[in-house]
Amino acid sequence: MAGYRQAAPAKINLALDILGRRPDGYHEMRMVMHAVSLCDAVFLEEAGEGFSLFAEGIVLPAGKTLEQRAAEAFFAALGRPMPGLRVTLEKKTPAYAGLGGGSADVAALLRLLREKYAPAMPREELEAVGGQIGSDVPFCIRGGAALAEGRGEVLTDLPPLPECRLVICKPDFDLPTGPMFARIRFDGSLPHPDVEGMVAALNRGDLNGMAKRTGNVFETVLELAERREIESIKEILLRRGALAAAMSGSGPAVFGIFVPDGDAAGAAEELKRRYAQVFEAKPVGRLMQDPVPCPPQGEPERIGS
Ligand code: C5P
Repeated sequence: MAGYRQAAPAKINLALDILGRRPDGYHEMRMVMHAVSLCDAVFLEEAGEGFSLFAEGIVLPAGKTLEQRAAEAFFAALGRPMPGLRVTLEKKTPAYAGLGGGSADVAALLRLLREKYAPAMPREELEAVGGQIGSDVPFCIRGGAALAEGRGEVLTDLPPLPECRLVICKPDFDLPTGPMFARIRFDGSLPHPDVEGMVAALNRGDLNGMAKRTGNVFETVLELAERREIESIKEILLRRGALAAAMSGSGPAVFGIFVPDGDAAGAAEELKRRYAQVFEAKPVGRLMQDPVPCPPQGEPERIGS
């Protein structure tokens, strides 16, 4: 039986602002997101009956997985029954890190399902299916750089980051998204990052301008021990010459942005002495037009006979 494999690139938030709480229980967001070359791989085969999911290195949550819900929503949108599917995740992106690892896997699965079962489905329709599964899934389907508003699913394309290097470090604690949102208080004290300025800097291709405007409101609700750890990672990245360093999403992963000939490798080396999960990466572009060639190869690849 033939199978298909695709890279599932993680995302970082160059800027993340939360505008308020919504009547539906979610929060109104304004963030600049960028897909990065740190990625999982998702492997899809038509096999057996029903939906089965396998993953190395993670414990799958009890009950119906996001992947299964995504596959069911995809075939419901197509108006046809779901064939037997077997999905395998090859995990590299840390979970509960603010890097969209889970959303990226769902997004890659949806791109694979479109490729195999509905190549004419417009990207917008696939993103709408993804939006039913998670707020970051539409962006993770699209990739590149975008301003994300609403729950995170209302996307406006932006030009990608100018050529640069990224170092991403996940400290040894998790910060689940729901509880991080619950820490946010809208009492007028929330400092708002300059998202407009970030968008303008990206539109100008101005790496220094955008570096000055990285910021994440979730950093303001860290507990003391968490803050110390995040600040110490940022201090190492900045001392090694990063133009900017910030926490991604609801944390706790931290990224640093380096010019192409900067000391990203030295920063990663130093961080690896203290942390188990340190990655060098690059920004990547739109994923439907230009799938990421990361191991195993990003372009959906036929495996088996
Ligand atoms: O959309 P998703 O299921 O990935 O979100 C996970 C959790 O994060 C939600 O249950 C909600 O508590 C919180 N969230 C939020 N506002 C958003 C996105 C997520 O409050 N815009």
